Amino acid sequence: MSALLQVAGLSRAFGGVRAVDDVSLSVEPSAILGIIGPNGSGKTTLLGLLSGTYRPNAGSIRLGGRRIESLPAHRTVAAGVARTFQTTRLFARWTLRANLEVAAASGRPGIVEFEPLLELTGLAGRGEALCATLSNAEQRLAMIAVALATRPVLLLLDEPAVGMAPSEAASLAAAIRRIRDTLGVSVLIVEHNMHLMMGLAERILVMNAGRKLIEGTPETVRHDPDVIACYLGH
Ligand SMILES: Nc1ncnc2c1ncn2[C@@H]1O[C@H](COP(=O)(O)OP(=O)(O)O)[C@@H](O)[C@H]1O
Ligand SMILES: [Mg+2]
Repeated sequence: MSALLQVAGLSRAFGGVRAVDDVSLSVEPSAILGIIGPNGSGKTTLLGLLSGTYRPNAGSIRLGGRRIESLPAHRTVAAGVARTFQTTRLFARWTLRANLEVAAASGRPGIVEFEPLLELTGLAGRGEALCATLSNAEQRLAMIAVALATRPVLLLLDEPAVGMAPSEAASLAAAIRRIRDTLGVSVLIVEHNMHLMMGLAERILVMNAGRKLIEGTPETVRHDPDVIACYLGH
């Protein structure tokens, strides 16, 4: 099977900081790739490059064989890449359904049915709720529903479990698995919750100081001495 996403030699600096430094990776269709690494290691910048928020200084991003690294963010969404953010970004005074409608209009062409999306994300019956009235966990799931309303082939999640209780994080993991199984999207997830990550990701890529430290199965990564030294050890 050929990769859905192929990233080669991707770099992005901010001033003198090499936020992402020569990173290559690939994601198969319907695969879940986890990204971990200390704060400041370049995880969010990598998602920003993949979603068209930032232009790379070097390197290429191919989605289904098509080069997308020079597309602006709105065209990257239309090409099939959707993301969520570390902090909640919803129109708080609007209903969840209104947020889904706006997202659907900016996404990949085609029909989106909202009820199945709400069910998939564990938000059945919440479509008419104002986003400001949703709990933290619901808002984080709502961001995923909004991302899915753009009909992505690749879903990028930046620390989706922030602020969640263990039971909420478990529901989130189940929702992400259900989304992948039902819609067939590939998922790239950045998360500090190692329990969630180990149970969800089929492969894990470890970032350190902008570079890819290693990539492997959760078991390989968990026992790697460099990973333990740079990340898990503290
Ligand atoms: N927009 C920006 N402007 C300047 N520096 C940035 C910007 N975004 C990230 N950085 C820097 O790039 C490095 C990587 O940051 P980031 O990608 O947010 O890491 P992570 O998500 O792994 O915590 C950090 O040193 C950070 O300060
Ligand atoms: Mg980050």
